Amino acid sequence: MGIVKKFKIKSFKKLNTVIQLDKVSLFYGKRQVLENINLKINQSEIFGVLGPNGSGKTTIMNLVVGIVRPSSGRILINGEDVTSMPIYERVKRHRMTVIPQRSGVFWELTCKECLLAIGELHIPDKKERIQMAETLISKFSLESVENLECKLMSGGQVRKTAIAMSLMSKPEIILLDEPFSALDPKSVEDLQNTIANLQLEDSRRAFIITDHAYRELIQISDKLGLLADKHFVKQGPVREVIEDEVSRKVYFSSSFTNK
Ligand SMILES: Nc1ncnc2c1ncn2[C@@H]1O[C@H](COP(=O)(O)OP(=O)(O)O)[C@@H](O)[C@H]1O
Ligand SMILES: [Mg+2]
Repeated sequence: MGIVKKFKIKSFKKLNTVIQLDKVSLFYGKRQVLENINLKINQSEIFGVLGPNGSGKTTIMNLVVGIVRPSSGRILINGEDVTSMPIYERVKRHRMTVIPQRSGVFWELTCKECLLAIGELHIPDKKERIQMAETLISKFSLESVENLECKLMSGGQVRKTAIAMSLMSKPEIILLDEPFSALDPKSVEDLQNTIANLQLEDSRRAFIITDHAYRELIQISDKLGLLADKHFVKQGPVREVIEDEVSRKVYFSSSFTNK
């Protein structure tokens, strides 16, 4: 893959806004972590959140899913104000799934058992549940670890299992926190293809992906937001952000080139 995405979806005329943060600020105790964050993510868009460690990337995801509440401002999902809506209701009403930075799998269970465990929450029919798990195992090429406990898998296999588990809920909003960190180059490419396919197969899906592994993130994002000093220093289409002088100054290393 080159530095920016090879193919983009252009065929959708009217894209609805799926995730919106409206003037969101957040304090942890007396310490302000985010200040006046505005963000809009449309259907079929992969929005990449970049930023140094501790800049608030995970916090943005936690705000969207409802793990933390903003100190001020609003969060809207599919046009609905969910600022005070509990996590379980947001997740269910808006078909949202989060794949956390660490784990996301049940370490003692096998890949297939993990998928079936999540399936039990969402797919009442046993036959259909097994079918769906098998389809995902084959789609993610996880056959070789189907019956292997997660604690024995490689990092890439664990990540793919976590994503496959989350797809058992048929999500339309997919939040991935640092999926590329700690993966070898081959697994990174594999995961990038997996995410690109998820985007292509359902035009209603919207994604937020964070990472400080910026090259890997840039390659699959449609838009980027660069977090630093409590706010988005720059956000917009990938090229605009990576070519922006301020972003280059505050974040990208001097060796980074978009050629
Ligand atoms: N529950 C919490 N209580 C207090 N401070 C927190 C909490 N969660 C995160 N922080 C702080 O908020 C800042 C942003 O954290 P985080 O969103 O995890 O950053 P990133 O994901 O970009 O590394 C950090 O300084 C972190 O220490
Ligand atoms: Mg984080």
